Amino acid sequence: MNKSYKRYLVTSALPYANGPIHLGHLAGVYVPSDIYTRYQRLKGKKIIHVCGSDEHGVPITLKARNEGVSPQEIVDRYHEINKKAFEDFGIAFDIYSRTSNKVHYETASEFFRKLYDEGKFIEKTTEQYYDKEAGSFLADRYITGTCPHCSNQDAYGDQCEQCGTSLSPTELINPTSRLSGSEPELRETRHWYLPLDKYEPWLKEWILEEHQEWKPNVYGQCKSWIDQGLNPRAVSRDLNWGVPVPVEGADGKVLYVWFDAPIGYISATRELTDDWEKYWKDEDTRMIHFIGKDNIVFHCIIFPTMLKAEGSYILPDNVPANEFLNLENDKISTSRNWAVWLHEYLEDFPGKQDVLRYVLCANAPEAKDNDFTWKDFQNRNNNELVAILGNFINRAIVLTHKYYDGKVPPVTGMEDYDRQVIGEIGAIRASVEKSLENFRFREAVKLAMDLARLGNKYLADTEPWKVIKKDPDRVSTILNISLQISASLSILLEPFLPFSMEKLRRFLNFEKVDWSLIGEADLLETGQMIGKPELLFEKIEDTAIEQQLEKLQNSRKSVGKDTEVAAQKPEVTFDEFSKMDIRTATIVEADKVPKTKKLIKMLVDTGIDQRTIVSGIAEYYDPDTLPGRKVCVLVNLAPRKIKGIESQGMILLSENSDGQLYFVEPGEEAHNGAEVN
Ligand code: 2FM
Ligand code: ZN
Repeated sequence: MNKSYKRYLVTSALPYANGPIHLGHLAGVYVPSDIYTRYQRLKGKKIIHVCGSDEHGVPITLKARNEGVSPQEIVDRYHEINKKAFEDFGIAFDIYSRTSNKVHYETASEFFRKLYDEGKFIEKTTEQYYDKEAGSFLADRYITGTCPHCSNQDAYGDQCEQCGTSLSPTELINPTSRLSGSEPELRETRHWYLPLDKYEPWLKEWILEEHQEWKPNVYGQCKSWIDQGLNPRAVSRDLNWGVPVPVEGADGKVLYVWFDAPIGYISATRELTDDWEKYWKDEDTRMIHFIGKDNIVFHCIIFPTMLKAEGSYILPDNVPANEFLNLENDKISTSRNWAVWLHEYLEDFPGKQDVLRYVLCANAPEAKDNDFTWKDFQNRNNNELVAILGNFINRAIVLTHKYYDGKVPPVTGMEDYDRQVIGEIGAIRASVEKSLENFRFREAVKLAMDLARLGNKYLADTEPWKVIKKDPDRVSTILNISLQISASLSILLEPFLPFSMEKLRRFLNFEKVDWSLIGEADLLETGQMIGKPELLFEKIEDTAIEQQLEKLQNSRKSVGKDTEVAAQKPEVTFDEFSKMDIRTATIVEADKVPKTKKLIKMLVDTGIDQRTIVSGIAEYYDPDTLPGRKVCVLVNLAPRKIKGIESQGMILLSENSDGQLYFVEPGEEAHNGAEVN
């Protein structure tokens, strides 16, 4: 960024209002966006931070259906829970809006209408799946089937969660309606499409040429999308929950959730300020989208294309997307209840918002997926917040009370070492700034903690508790400098630890919160009273950690007990079943398919022959452990190419209550080629 901007507009991904916020959301999106916004505010920048609930989309209507309530009831519930949890956690949005409100309906409708009137969409009639029994088209997640890429039998109509490929319902093998469990039929329906292909040359230039500074994970994903070639994307759906398509004769059709949700950023700004157009339409605004990696294509390709097509809006200057956070070495999963929910954390650890903010930032999944463990949470609290930061502040305050009755003592004379230490504060500030400007939050918090480390080193080197007897004047200088460092810390760490730094400023009777003051040697006046020492951070005991681990395991089990069972598929005759030729077989060789996360290529001895089969099991099995394992194989499945490899059959897999796939194994006595029926 070379340009100097007049104002900043920070957006944080609108979380779906179909469940509570968990640690993955926080680490990926809201902790970094909050740190960034607080930092720019301290620098005196004009900045607004908008967010809100994403209240449309199929997962919400499905949840409502499962619970037998209306979608509005679901979104009302989670909007309140999440809004409050964000507030209590100190995420300082200027507005937390929602996409079911009137301003949003108007903004999204106007946006669509303008593109429609200007002929920016193409209209197409295509065949889509329809559930006769339920009397409804089956958009996105209303349909499941087998993924054509990795054979996952539970792929959704919009995406296969096993191999990550984005799909359209008609690509699924053996499609099944989630409404009735029946096999759907194809029917014609008309929809509006955003012709992304027409914008390809522009996207190439705008992203691949002009935004090479974007994070490698973001740039790389955009490049791979663009290189694969872009196709028109439908922006409407046959559903009855969402913003109605504002066009004559579009009854029963709503805007696709990914069309209306990002417009939610505009609606939220509009709700917040009459000046909203300055934020969205003036080239002097710098817009930054904070998101998780699963949102990259929507924020870097689709939404910018919508904005470009509309014509009067600015585009994002950066999209610092994060990767995913795992929990105790396993993927965070709402359906498996493998998560730490923010509202529960706030109840279990009252007053400890900053500990979680610190851990999530210090261990943020910035360049790759990362793992949150309760042990690391405890260690970082005890060994860093308590032992480094809390310890330094506590010593500076306690000694000031002990030797100077709680009054800031004067500087009686500076030594070179004192001047060097004061100089280092400015250098630390500059390095923290550089990291924050480049969205490197892990690095920034580590560098900021270096100031507390510097303070500890200063006290350890100067040893005021020893010097006090011989040279009290020297101690006066040492403690003055230590308190000035504490005051600088209270600003430097404010974006990361806002609750504790406010408390620290109360201890110090220090009110000035301005980034440019960090490093000044006279932030606290000589003779000024400081408050009684109180602990900034407390040790977290093993029992608290054990309780969390137990809670996590128990909640996973309880999901296991009443795992959702898929509806029975339509009846087949014995003759139909007999067409399936299933044999017992032995895996001979197994290797990971390069450049894929999930796929393993195997040579399998079916008794009939030895053949190649590709299966999406790399998350569950180490290829080295597979040779010699007995499996069941559907041998007469038509061969399919998976990642360029011809797969000649399918290994039968089942799923346990944790969502892990495992082999359906024949008994030890089964010989290769024995029929399974
Ligand atoms: O992935 C999600 O949780 C989406 N609800 C994010 C939407 S971001 C924006 F477009 F609103
Ligand atoms: Zn797949």
